[in-house]
Amino acid sequence: MKILTTNIKLSNQSDIHIYESRGGYKSAAKAMNLPAETIVEEVKASGLRGRGGAGFPTGIKWGFVPKNQDLPTYLVMNADESEPGTFKDKLLLEQDPHLCLEGLIIAAKALNVHLAIIYIRGEYAYGATVMQKAIKQAYLAGYLGEKIFKSKYALDVILHRGAGAYICGEETALLNSIEGKRGQPRLKPPFPAVSGLYGCPTIINNVETLANLPWIIEHSGSSYAKIGTAKSTGTKLISVSGNVSQPGVYEVELGYPVLDFIQNECRGIANGKKLKAVIPGGSSVAVLRADELNNLKLDYESLLAAGSMLGSGGMIVLDETIDMVEVCANLQNFYAYESCGQCTPCREGGHWVEKLCRKLVNGTGTRKDLDLVQSVCSGIAGKTICPFGDALVSPTLSFIKKFPEEFEKKIFRIKTYVR
Ligand SMILES: Cc1cc2nc3c(=O)[nH]c(=O)nc-3n(C[C@H](O)[C@H](O)[C@H](O)COP(=O)(O)O)c2cc1C
Ligand code: SF4
Repeated sequence: MKILTTNIKLSNQSDIHIYESRGGYKSAAKAMNLPAETIVEEVKASGLRGRGGAGFPTGIKWGFVPKNQDLPTYLVMNADESEPGTFKDKLLLEQDPHLCLEGLIIAAKALNVHLAIIYIRGEYAYGATVMQKAIKQAYLAGYLGEKIFKSKYALDVILHRGAGAYICGEETALLNSIEGKRGQPRLKPPFPAVSGLYGCPTIINNVETLANLPWIIEHSGSSYAKIGTAKSTGTKLISVSGNVSQPGVYEVELGYPVLDFIQNECRGIANGKKLKAVIPGGSSVAVLRADELNNLKLDYESLLAAGSMLGSGGMIVLDETIDMVEVCANLQNFYAYESCGQCTPCREGGHWVEKLCRKLVNGTGTRKDLDLVQSVCSGIAGKTICPFGDALVSPTLSFIKKFPEEFEKKIFRIKTYVR
C-alpha cells in the first residue's frame, strides 16, 4: 500500500503540470469547498499521527488552536530533518514537492491560516531550490496567493532555510529561529498551538505528516484508518541506513514485522553477516538486540512496548562486526556538539558522557567511568527544558544495558604479572 511514494520514481514529478496530470492539487481544490471543521474531522477520523517523532495525533493537535480569537494562526512545515539516520523528508521535498505543498494548503485551510512557513534544514540546499521552484509554480497557477483555486481564500507560503543546528528541529527552537532569535527551545506550556510564532497560535507539522493529507481528503479519513493497525494507522516512510544490502527510503504499512522488513525490503544484512542490533527510530531512541526483534512490528505501540520508539522512522541496522561502545561514543559526540547550551545538565552532561564513552573506546576507561556514565545520565533525564536531554540519555543507557559484555571488555584493568 503506497500513499506517499506512488509517483516518487516517475519522471518530472516535481513539475506542477506533471503533478497535476497525475491527479495533483485535486484534494486541495476539494478542501477549498469544505468547511474547516470537516477537514479537521476527516483528519481526526484518519487517526493520522505526527511523523516528526512523537507520534501525536494530528487532528487532536489541530483542535488545540483556540477558537474565536483575534490573533492570526500560523502553520509551519517542519522540514529540518537532522536526526541521525533520518532522511525520509528529503525524498519528499526533492522528488515530490507539490505533494508537500498540497498537504500544507489543506492544513492551512483547516486551520484558517493565511501565512505558512516551510522551515527547511540548511544543508538541504537542493531540496530548498526544488521547493522554491514549486512554490513559484503554485503561485503562478493560482494555488497560492489571493483567491486560491478561484475561492475567496488567501494563502502565502515562505521558505525559510535553517543554518545547520539539529536543535532547530525542535518546534519551539524552530519558532525562535524564524523570529531571528537564538535557536533555543522554549519552556512549555504554553504550547505553540496556543502561543507560538510571535505569540500567536501556531501549528507545526512534519513534512511527511502533511504529505498524507491529499490522500485523506481524496479517499476519506475512515479509509485511511483501515490501513496499518488500529492505533498506528496509515503507512510510514522508513529511512534505512547501516549494514543492509539495500539501504534507502521505504514506505510500509504500519504493523509490518521488523525482521520481514529488513529481509524483504532491504534485502537482508549485507555481505552475509549476522544482524546484531537495530536502532528503529532515529538516533534518539533505544537500541534493540536482534533477539528482541522476533515477532516485533513496526508501529508506535509495538516499539514502545519493546522499550524503544518508532520516532522519525530512521532505522539504523548494525551487524555482528559493529563495536557497540564505539557506536555509543559516536552518538554522544553528536549530542554533545548539538546541545543548545541552555540547561546545565544537557550542556555539561553531554560532553561528560561523551568523554567517558571515548575513554572506554580507547581502553583507558575504568569501571568507575562506566558507573559514572550512568550516574551522569540520571542527572540529565527529565531535568531539562526540552526532550533533547532524554534523547541523549535513552540510547546511551540502552547500549550499556543491552550490550554489557562489550562495555565490560573495554574496561581498563591493572594487570598483575607473576614472575
Ligand atoms: C531535539 C529535537 C529535534 C527534532 N527535530 C525534528 C525534525 O527535524 N523534524 C520534525 O518534523 N520534528 C522534529 N522534532 C519534533 C518537533 O518538535 C515536533 O514535535 C514536530 O515537528 C511536530 O510535527 P508532527 O506532529 O507532524 O510530528 C524534534 C524534536 C526534538 C526534541
Ligand atoms: S535539553 Fe539541551 S538542547 Fe534542550 S534546551 Fe536544554 S540545553 Fe538546550
